[in-house]
Amino acid sequence: MYKSIQIAAGTRPLQLHFAFAGEKAPKGARGAEALDAARSLPGFKCEVGECAPAGARDLVVGLGERKDFTVARLRTAAAKLVKTLHRRGATAIAVHAPQGLDKRAFDARSLGQTFAEALAIAAWRVDFFDGTAATRPAALAKLAVSSHDKGFAEGMHDGLAIAEGVNAARRLGATPPNVCNPQWMARAAAALGRTVGLRVRTIDFAQAKAMGMGGLVNVGQGSAAKPCLIVVEYRPRTVSRACRNEHLVLVGKTITYDTGGYSLKINNGMVGMKYDKSGGTNVLGTMLAIARMKLPMKVTALLPAAENMVASDSYRPDDIITMHNGVTVEVTNTDAEGRLVLADALSYACEKLEPTAIIDMATLTGGVVVALGHFSAGMFCEHDGLRKRVEEASEATGERVWRLPLWNDHREYMRSPHADILNSNPARMAHPIQGAAFLSYFVEKQVPWCHLDIAGVANVDSANDQFVKGPTGWGVRTLVELVRRWSGA
Ligand code: BES
Ligand code: MN
Ligand code: ZN
Repeated sequence: MYKSIQIAAGTRPLQLHFAFAGEKAPKGARGAEALDAARSLPGFKCEVGECAPAGARDLVVGLGERKDFTVARLRTAAAKLVKTLHRRGATAIAVHAPQGLDKRAFDARSLGQTFAEALAIAAWRVDFFDGTAATRPAALAKLAVSSHDKGFAEGMHDGLAIAEGVNAARRLGATPPNVCNPQWMARAAAALGRTVGLRVRTIDFAQAKAMGMGGLVNVGQGSAAKPCLIVVEYRPRTVSRACRNEHLVLVGKTITYDTGGYSLKINNGMVGMKYDKSGGTNVLGTMLAIARMKLPMKVTALLPAAENMVASDSYRPDDIITMHNGVTVEVTNTDAEGRLVLADALSYACEKLEPTAIIDMATLTGGVVVALGHFSAGMFCEHDGLRKRVEEASEATGERVWRLPLWNDHREYMRSPHADILNSNPARMAHPIQGAAFLSYFVEKQVPWCHLDIAGVANVDSANDQFVKGPTGWGVRTLVELVRRWSGA
């Protein structure tokens, strides 16, 4: 609805006040008149995100009951607000931070961050494929936001940087497979990376072959657009004390389209598989945000990009392939392709990048959607310290993760009679765990590792308060929060 949201004073901004249900503004308080005027409007119940005009210059936004306040409510309020602003044609707002909250529980900075983040995420649309028959109301060019509260304004600054990463990921995610193939992704990553000073390089098909990346090569070779491994490096000027020896590696499954290959997706199961690159797009969105925020930690992202197609040179069920780390894999199902491309990236990370932690994100299994629905991602992490970091960051952002087990029994379940391991056990049990168990063969034992299966959360089928139908950029906010906390910034 807004092409961009920026921190700026703007001309004649609409004054924005938050109100809790059933409270009278103290006499002489900032915006007291506006609050009282709004409250006297018939029908105004001060529900979360309900907006009431107070004259031409003020707008009051409800936050519900004070005792029930959470940051999730502020997020909802901001998301609803932006629709009201767009309807009114507002181009500038001056925000008066919510008053009288417990400062330890709700500091101004994080309130500002949540608010701006939610505003910018809810303002985003898929409108870049609108043609001559489009009926959508035109997006407004710019919304200028400001706040006199210094902490709140600083928070808004971070919030917009994070939302920019989220929305960049969503834009890539929504780009259809006739446009977005592995090379297109590599160019897009390079172009986006340049805007924030990230170094982006690509290991192309020939190099991947020469390096023995059998997973990436086999999955992607059936497409005219050959596979590649996109490497994104963030090297901050200064590294914080806490992160002096740390190197976080993020890996994102980047299947630009998943037909299933010869184990073809049937009964319309293919529709929506443009979102099979979400792990990669969201890892890239994370990198854009941490670079823009100049977080003081060394981070590298790997995006193994391939298109899983059917052709005479596609890999087949029954093929046995050799991976980057020398592990041999019997292919039982060409639709279990994500783990094959991820495996080479994980092995490459362990061999070449000296990671002190690896987190991978992937739309890996339909099974995780059956198990957890659209309510949370599946998390696999056998390292207590790293798991705690992921869970705490997830708690803070509201992007839920839920731990599933990864035991030696699961690893044994992946054994093949003719090669080291199978890419999928035909007995068809515990699919999400099989994915994680498979990947574990490619991560060196001493490296803390977390696998996030995001198949259920990468996109939404219908609009909600926060998101339009389409990709969500899930995980950008959580990974940025994890890096921010880890680096002590
Ligand atoms: N990309 C799919 C997983 C997926 C399914 C994501 C539905 C989003 C929605 C993945 O490559 C896949 O096909 N997984 C198979 C694995 C199976 C063949 C072992 C699955 O989950 O059915
Ligand atoms: Mn598949
Ligand atoms: Zn897939």
